[in-house]
Amino acid sequence: MACPISLFCEVIIVIELKNVEIRYGDFVAIDNLNLTINEGEFFTFLGPSGCGKTTTLRALAGFNIPSRGQVLIDGRDVTEAPVEKRQIGMVFQSYALFPTMTVYENIAFGLRVRKMKADEIKRRVDEVAEKIRISSAQLDRNVSELSGGQQQRIALARAIIQEPKILCLDEPLSNLDAKLRIGLRGELKRLQRDLNITTLYVTHDQEEAMNLSDRIAVFNNGYIEQVGTPYEIYNNSASEFVCDFIGDINRLDGGILEEINRQTAGTGGKRLDAGKTGFIRLERVLSEPKEGCAGLTGTVEELEYDGMLARYLVNVCGQQVKCVEKNDGRAFFKRGQEIRLYVNPDYIMQF
Ligand SMILES: Nc1ncnc2c1ncn2[C@@H]1O[C@H](COP(=O)(O)OP(=O)(O)O)[C@@H](O)[C@H]1O
Ligand SMILES: [Mg+2]
Repeated sequence: MACPISLFCEVIIVIELKNVEIRYGDFVAIDNLNLTINEGEFFTFLGPSGCGKTTTLRALAGFNIPSRGQVLIDGRDVTEAPVEKRQIGMVFQSYALFPTMTVYENIAFGLRVRKMKADEIKRRVDEVAEKIRISSAQLDRNVSELSGGQQQRIALARAIIQEPKILCLDEPLSNLDAKLRIGLRGELKRLQRDLNITTLYVTHDQEEAMNLSDRIAVFNNGYIEQVGTPYEIYNNSASEFVCDFIGDINRLDGGILEEINRQTAGTGGKRLDAGKTGFIRLERVLSEPKEGCAGLTGTVEELEYDGMLARYLVNVCGQQVKCVEKNDGRAFFKRGQEIRLYVNPDYIMQF
């Protein structure tokens, strides 16, 4: 008998990209991309500028048509279907609102196009405005009077009022200042959870991606390097590119790796290839001994303290090793001090 719990855990695929190639003339922007996105998922395309995130999102929404491969939504081939047949809501970096209309008119626009009755439109605008925390006084204002953050809220309201099956957001927070970005990020996550809407999010900001996403696809130069949860991508990066892009990292070479191998021989820990670079996250470099770790002697070159954390730059056999420590009441190390660092080979990534 099937476990009843499995009913609740069933994963339903909403979006599927199969062997997708997208060209601009002779230029291949996306080469053979394969991806599935599940119902209710917050899924992020992450990567540096120009790597093909927007191009892929636009193929999903129907703004450009792949030169090869298929786009499926709910198992239906929509590769060449027009935008309006796909039930997708879009939010862009540039809010793309109608500047001469009021907030209300902007949000109601799509429903008016669909010739919905005025009282029904009013009911739905009020409902969405409440969800997105737009006050009734704001509804009567002209959009051009509002700040960037407020305008982006309205763009979001305009997208979700259509009750799309999929919400696509292309760098929606990139035009906003840091503080506002973090505030809106939290709200976006809350809203997505409340609506339980499958969401595709594009960003070049790794912290934003880590914070928001159920899963992330890391793009590089027209292809996907890795798909995984934020945890997997950070702790088990599939390539040097991902490892470097997703967070701060130490590079360890030759002599240090041999020394770690020597000290941890017979402990059952990972054997390192001293001929390749090893990568280890800063917080995995410890300043107190722990089982399975090798100890390395080094000299503190720099120290930065921000109240919660202390960051050290330590010279180990001529290599600079960064490490981060939480404030636990102990005295911090001093510049010039000789210290021991401890690393477990299992946390060293090699590609
Ligand atoms: N309309 C276009 N015509 C020609 N090349 C384009 C066009 N749009 C994007 N590109 C190119 O395709 C690549 C991917 O672009 P894009 O998808 O916008 O990247 P991202 O969103 O990741 O910054 C880039 O090299 C870009 O220059
Ligand atoms: Mg883009």
